[in-house]
Amino acid sequence: MGGTNPYMKATDIVLPKTKYKISFEPEDPSAGEPVTIEVDPGKIPHGETGQPGSILSVALESGIDIEHSCGGVCACSTCHVYVREGLDTCNEASDDELDQLEEARGLSTHSRLSCQTVPNGTKDIRVVIPSWNVNLVKEGH
Ligand code: FES
Repeated sequence: MGGTNPYMKATDIVLPKTKYKISFEPEDPSAGEPVTIEVDPGKIPHGETGQPGSILSVALESGIDIEHSCGGVCACSTCHVYVREGLDTCNEASDDELDQLEEARGLSTHSRLSCQTVPNGTKDIRVVIPSWNVNLVKEGH
């Protein structure tokens, strides 16, 4: 299963127009090294899993495995990440996302569902992947 949820209203998503970087790092440093991905607006992943250009879609496209049980349709909270820098350049969380986030472990003010969070590319983003959701090392980065 994968894609976007046709019953959900898209929030104020603005796709990037310039290159920017997303750094992914595990909350637990022993789980792997941080990985930085350059996002090229001409090669934005388009909706295979999660919103086009979402943090999850960029991660998966780059071989970084963030859990995504519902396939990126905002129906679980397994893709929960912390956006520690650059959150102000991402679309606002929808009511549906906020509802799902309430179920997430370790909720913080930086919490977002990575399948619903699309940076606009005006700043680099720093994403911390919660300890229970880290497969960075497995992917060989
Ligand atoms: S993968 Fe289920 S909400 Fe993101």
